[in-house]
Amino acid sequence: MRQKIVAGNWKMNKNLDEAKKLIKQLKKEIKGNVNEDTRVIIAPSFVNLHYAAKKTKKSNIEVAAQNMHQSKSGAFTGEVSADMLTNIGVNIVILGHSERREYFAETDELLAKKVDTALGQGLEVIFCFGELLEDRKSGNHFKIVENQIKKALFHLEKSNYANIVLAYEPVWAIGTGETATPEQAQEIHAFVRELFAKEYGNEVADAISILYGGSVKPANAKEIFSKPDVDGGLIGGAALKAEDFKAIIKSI
Ligand code: 13P
Repeated sequence: MRQKIVAGNWKMNKNLDEAKKLIKQLKKEIKGNVNEDTRVIIAPSFVNLHYAAKKTKKSNIEVAAQNMHQSKSGAFTGEVSADMLTNIGVNIVILGHSERREYFAETDELLAKKVDTALGQGLEVIFCFGELLEDRKSGNHFKIVENQIKKALFHLEKSNYANIVLAYEPVWAIGTGETATPEQAQEIHAFVRELFAKEYGNEVADAISILYGGSVKPANAKEIFSKPDVDGGLIGGAALKAEDFKAIIKSI
């Protein structure tokens, strides 16, 4: 069944002291304020994941990693494996974020491998995709999004999609204060759902959650979430303040 999800990507923010404070606030703010059918996820940095997973275990907050390596283990200095995540109680990973694609040269081919490794280890994947401003200006955004999805995901089996959430994050709307209009988000989400319907059939297409990310704030969340193919949000900056995050969750 399609799920409603609000996920907070903390990116490279919050040291352990700050993370402790925010998690405490979130637990308090969110308790009793979330509809039963809405999942709330936070994605702190690697060093804070163990703490976050332990502290949220009995709450309605789930914890995700922001990345992981495609290999199971080995000589990959500075990297973190899927097994290391599940071993500390982290069962979700964000893959394909545009900042990983842009600053760490992650390609669709690499992401296909990461997705396989994550699913193989039993992780749920929040898979991000989205076009650059120049792609949108030139009208190439549909093609770009289609390619990103096909190359990284379409080798998967139908059954894998029980463990995949999609997140449309137009790069031009991330951290810029500029948001895609609800209509622009809906247009891409519907397009993506149609891609899945063609490749895997309506059952998979109807069941997959597609989140929108890019400058979602308490002030614009409700309108964006009201669109039929927008199943929630992947929130950056506004997820760093408990009150704002709560307000966004409440608007779903
Ligand atoms: P902002 O909400 O800060 O634009 O970030 C969105 C994002 O990249 C979430 O992954």
